[in-house]
Amino acid sequence: MFDEVDSTNEVAKKYLANSAPEGLIIVSDAQSNGRGRLGRSWYSEGGVGLYLSLLLKPDIAPLHYPQLTLMAAVAVIDAINEFSNLPATLKWPNDILLKGKKLCGVLAEYCQNSNNNGAIIGIGINVNQPKFPEPLREIATSLRIENGKMVNRLELLRSVIGHLDKEYQAFLADGANPLTQKWTQRSDMFGKNVTLTQGTHIISGTALRLDENGNLILRTENGDEQSYSGGEVTCRPG
Ligand code: BTN
Repeated sequence: MFDEVDSTNEVAKKYLANSAPEGLIIVSDAQSNGRGRLGRSWYSEGGVGLYLSLLLKPDIAPLHYPQLTLMAAVAVIDAINEFSNLPATLKWPNDILLKGKKLCGVLAEYCQNSNNNGAIIGIGINVNQPKFPEPLREIATSLRIENGKMVNRLELLRSVIGHLDKEYQAFLADGANPLTQKWTQRSDMFGKNVTLTQGTHIISGTALRLDENGNLILRTENGDEQSYSGGEVTCRPG
């Protein structure tokens, strides 16, 4: 447990380069350069959030690594929901939302060093922030804001680790199908009209399901089913 690091994912990467074993978890009270997906930063104020990275070395093909993001999201949402009055929901590919605002993000990075291959699963949870600075205020929330009470971060951390252990073992034993089902049950985006943004490319369609590699299947406006491996989803009304 660190007081402050640049990014727990970066620290985990250094440990991986030094042959750290699977299961290593780096936790920091604050991050000076917390990173999100798509080159964004992750607001990482000290004393209020949970910032951690887990090192995994599963014996699976790199094609299947995105399943680890799904696995982590399922584990973390189950932990979060033990501490929330209202259930949080999953938004593909890596967001946990509460009342439509972002409560948690997962940043999975896959490292191939000469002898040390592994996946680093970074998890950021907004726990006790009383409010967020602009422009995050419109899009981010915390357990404290939505539930009106503080959460003990150590208890939440213990639960997150317990659920990660359980879901990872289940994933190794049972594979992608049960995991995809669990993920789907915890999301409310399927059947809805969504917009998927991939850089400057914008696709509109209906969210149908995930495939076994964690890709999102959309029925696009011309009626085709298309699979997408990344991007940013927003739900559209109607
Ligand atoms: C996202 O939603 O864009 C992913 C956010 C991931 C943030 C976590 S905080 C712990 C770990 N260290 C980082 O620098 N990022 C991840």
